[in-house]
Amino acid sequence: MTSCFTATPGVDVITTNADIPGLGSLAINAFVLHGAEPILVDTGTVAGSSDFLTSLESVINPADLRWIWLTHTDFDHIGSMAALLDAHPHLRVITSFLGVGIMGLSSTPLAMDRVYLVNPGQSVTLADRTLTAVRPPVYDNPITSGFLDHQTGILFSSDCFGALLPEVPQDAGDLDIDTLQSGQVRWATVDSAWVHNVDRDVFGAALDELRAIEPTMVCSSHLPPAPGAMLKLFVDSLAQVPGADRFIGPDQAALEMMLAGMVGSPA
Ligand SMILES: [Fe+2]
Ligand SMILES: [Fe+2]
Repeated sequence: MTSCFTATPGVDVITTNADIPGLGSLAINAFVLHGAEPILVDTGTVAGSSDFLTSLESVINPADLRWIWLTHTDFDHIGSMAALLDAHPHLRVITSFLGVGIMGLSSTPLAMDRVYLVNPGQSVTLADRTLTAVRPPVYDNPITSGFLDHQTGILFSSDCFGALLPEVPQDAGDLDIDTLQSGQVRWATVDSAWVHNVDRDVFGAALDELRAIEPTMVCSSHLPPAPGAMLKLFVDSLAQVPGADRFIGPDQAALEMMLAGMVGSPA
């Protein structure tokens, strides 16, 4: 079930939750940035596309959108992209060379005249706002690029800072800190398992770069919007990930036990 709310004036959230058995609930967010050239940040899940489009229409006339910022090409981010591009010929997708390449292997490739390529560190000015692409320190897809919106000061972090939670509130600031941090560490072990193998000094330097950003708000794809002051707390969560327990999913024996109703219901 998709719902919408306003994160801050000019920025709406279109959100749904995925309940993952044994792990918790995960927010799946897309964002609408209103302005002279409205931007949609990601396009929801493939499975929930119809519901997503209905929710999108409740916060903006999709014909008014000018840009989709595609943080990466996973199924929880590209759900309504093809439908929106088909319906609105002026709409273009901000992505990377690799993003175009991966979508070229799908049934809905991106036309070259519908994309705008941006690499981490580069900025793009869209009428009244400038966005600087940011490669977050953890990610599950090499295409990943979040961005800092200089107009609102919001950091859009893609999958980074997501959290598996008992239940998902509308504001990450309402979460108990232990619940939030343990949920962020768990999510990062699931979504970015390679972090267990990193050189911790190199990883620490990447985290320090992130600490230097002072956003007004952090908008992750998988966490409710959070006050910018929480960024340092989030970075502290990521610093725990290399030494955290590795995630190992249920195996066939566990699946058969679940199917037989021998284990409890999902968290
Ligand atoms: Fe992802
Ligand atoms: Fe995601």
